Amino acid sequence: MVQTEDIRVFLRDKTTPHHIAVEDRLTYLAPVSTLSGYVLHLVIMRDFYQSLIVSNRDPDIDISWSVTRTKILDSISTDLEKMNGENTGKYRRSTPAILSLENDEAWGARYVVIGSSLGAHLLRKTVIASLGPDIPADYLGYMTNNPDSGWKCFVETLRSQTLDAQSTVNGAIKTFDHLAEIIERHRGEHDTISS
Ligand code: HEM
Repeated sequence: MVQTEDIRVFLRDKTTPHHIAVEDRLTYLAPVSTLSGYVLHLVIMRDFYQSLIVSNRDPDIDISWSVTRTKILDSISTDLEKMNGENTGKYRRSTPAILSLENDEAWGARYVVIGSSLGAHLLRKTVIASLGPDIPADYLGYMTNNPDSGWKCFVETLRSQTLDAQSTVNGAIKTFDHLAEIIERHRGEHDTISS
């Protein structure tokens, strides 16, 4: 078992290039400062959460994860429904292969999902500044505000686990790469005319 001083720092160091790859792709292909880019961002994230299955030895953690995942997906659906007038149907309904991770790798996947709330905080500010305060932003708000999915609380729980550091990193990298692949599937769908 690979042990490390601080699993969170280890994860960040080992996955930074994968985070940057996802961030760059999203910023370029689905910029949230435009309406069509923002809608595409939500469509991509919906595909991502729908196709990500994680499971753990501890049933309590599994239940809390499945509640978080359902709430995230509901908040994305609410945003997309409220913006129905923006012709969300024009985006391909992509059916990516399921990424299924277990145990230590599943902790890596959770790190990626809960860590994305740090980016969501910035994205929400951009969405509101660019598209106005009435723009539906339940998903970005949920990621930013919800104590259950809170980053600090998650990092504390992560640190309290006995994990193989390398397996956890592998799970995080697989999760980032899975998202990168989903973004690629939607390449070319951002329609600047409607923004
Ligand atoms: C354009 C989109 C994104 C931007 C601008 C962005 C920005 C950021 C920023 C600024 C941080 C660091 C915050 C801090 O240290 O206080 C961060 C952390 C993080 N983001 Fe993103 N992000 C984006 C998308 C994503 C996505 C889509 C994911 C995963 C699904 C993700 C996963 C993470 C993770 C795991 C961390 C925590 C790194 C750590 O351990 O400190 N990000 N992001």
